[in-house]
Amino acid sequence: MKSCTAVAPSSTANLGPGYDVFGLALDALYDRVTITRQKGADGRIAIKMSDASIPSVPESNSAGLVVKKMAQDFGIKDNLEVKVKKGVPAGYGMGSSAASAAAAAVAFDGLYKLKIKKEKLVEYAAEGEVASAGARHYDNVSASVLGGFVISSMKDGPVPRFVRMAPPRDLCLVVAVPSIPVPERKTEVARSVLPSEVPLKSAVRNVSGASTIVAGIALKDVELIARGIDDAIVEPARKHMIPGFDSVKENALAAGALAVSISGAGPSVIAFLKTGRNSKKVAQAMAAGFGKAGAKCRTFPCRPSVGAHVV
Ligand code: HSE
Repeated sequence: MKSCTAVAPSSTANLGPGYDVFGLALDALYDRVTITRQKGADGRIAIKMSDASIPSVPESNSAGLVVKKMAQDFGIKDNLEVKVKKGVPAGYGMGSSAASAAAAAVAFDGLYKLKIKKEKLVEYAAEGEVASAGARHYDNVSASVLGGFVISSMKDGPVPRFVRMAPPRDLCLVVAVPSIPVPERKTEVARSVLPSEVPLKSAVRNVSGASTIVAGIALKDVELIARGIDDAIVEPARKHMIPGFDSVKENALAAGALAVSISGAGPSVIAFLKTGRNSKKVAQAMAAGFGKAGAKCRTFPCRPSVGAHVV
């Protein structure tokens, strides 16, 4: 095989209290990565980005970092072209770098027929997060690789590090992506505003919320999931970075959303709904909330997605 293409979905991380642990794949948008073997075996990796604002040096590019690491680990010296067609906007909290990284890992696996275990593919895809977040956080990449709702545990051990659960069929979401400038390496910036220590009371509240979300997923109960989306730690520390956040949240809830949180590190905001019936109304309400703060936004009504796959 000379070339292999894979697609990977956008995702939302944290879902309120599950900072760095929860991820949910979203069928809103997809990235597509094609890896093609070129002449020569000097280990050269050439990145071709559809979005010129994203660095195409392999060491600063999420797909590039993944391919570099996989080629190293499997002793592959082929010169490779890595073509990244971005569907997920970079820097807005929709798991953009994770989608490129996940698609790159799956395409590389497909090209060389390596049959790597999914869990290991998540580890490879996490390499890509270093490009944008400066750290390997697994919540977006695990969702983007595996699809559905994923819990990434922090500890290696006898149980799987990534637990995938199928979300309820009636879970619908609306992501509002504000058209505001975001700092370079936004995730790193958004992580730097978080407290290094938290009051026990806040930790207890977040554990309660996170447990309720997992129970809601297991019991296929959207209302229970929504009740758990309550974040006493990260949202208060980050919301100043999102113009109009309080209005967006208030409006979405008034329009019928069951819960609202920052999507990943933001600035996108995500609303959780039971059935898509209200999604247009909620999308308009969120847009009006951003509008109040002078920001335009794009809205994406969506549902949970399957994971990255070869096409
Ligand atoms: N858990 C990460 C964060 C997700 O909130 O910083 C980044 O998309």
